[in-house]
Amino acid sequence: MPRLYRVCCPSISEELPEAWLSPRERAFYERCSPRRRRSWWVGRWAAKALLREHLRAEGGGCPPPSPREIEIVPTPSGAPRVLVKGELLEVSLSLAHCGDRGLAGLADPTREGRIGVDIERVRPVHPRLAERLLRPEERKLLEELSPQGGDDPCTLVLAWTLKEAAYKALRPALPSEVSLPLRALRLRIRDRGRGGSAPDGVSVVYAPEEGREIALPAEAERVGDFWLAWALLPPAFSPPPPPKGP
Ligand SMILES: CC(C)(COP(=O)(O)OP(=O)(O)OC[C@H]1O[C@@H](n2cnc3c(N)ncnc32)[C@H](O)[C@@H]1OP(=O)(O)O)[C@@H](O)C(=O)NCCC(=O)NCCS
Repeated sequence: MPRLYRVCCPSISEELPEAWLSPRERAFYERCSPRRRRSWWVGRWAAKALLREHLRAEGGGCPPPSPREIEIVPTPSGAPRVLVKGELLEVSLSLAHCGDRGLAGLADPTREGRIGVDIERVRPVHPRLAERLLRPEERKLLEELSPQGGDDPCTLVLAWTLKEAAYKALRPALPSEVSLPLRALRLRIRDRGRGGSAPDGVSVVYAPEEGREIALPAEAERVGDFWLAWALLPPAFSPPPPPKGP
């Protein structure tokens, strides 16, 4: 199971960004609007705390690098990669933020695969978004999950969170020409929790080509008003070829 770190950060003190951000991250932070700043910060905080735990465990008793020495840099796709003192760290990291909540997930890319995490607040979901999110057969699945039926915000947001986690694990592994709408990701659930509890035996299935299915094991957890989820793309995944031009 991948390692996760959850944080709630209602306020940011003056000193924290100075102590936790590299000069490049600090410059980005200063350019953000106050709302984006808070959310972006809380994601970095969760990710760096998790990375320091990992580096401490790997360091054989040596103290881990300071948060400022750990830099999280976006790749062209937007997915994060990690530099420690300027050197690329071979880990799979994913992060998510929602208001003052942050979630980070870390996996070993060769042993566990590529991780994606997401966090979403349970709230009413616009019918058009629900349509973009779900296939008709998934609506039936959600109806079975919830005593309130398929329009229950709790189960809709659960599905959304799981799919966005799988999207983040998968998107960076695909050629940029291959599109990945959330409807192309299918939920599979073995044991159904009831009344808003998390279901067991969840995977998110991606079928890149006729007759080929890749199941990303996934898990969700309800914390207060939020669903938190992770999904893992297995290490053996080979991406489909980019679509042929017109
Ligand atoms: C990229 C996307 C997954 C980000 O999700 P979000 O809810 O806006 O934001 P989150 O807090 O959950 O995640 C943000 C983090 O995801 C990561 N991220 C961004 N693009 C990514 C990508 N292509 N692959 C993996 N991770 C990515 C970054 O670390 C980012 O953190 P940062 O902005 O602080 O650098 C989302 O905007 C998206 O494009 N989803 C595609 C599917 C879709 O259309 N969803 C709409 C609902 S139907």
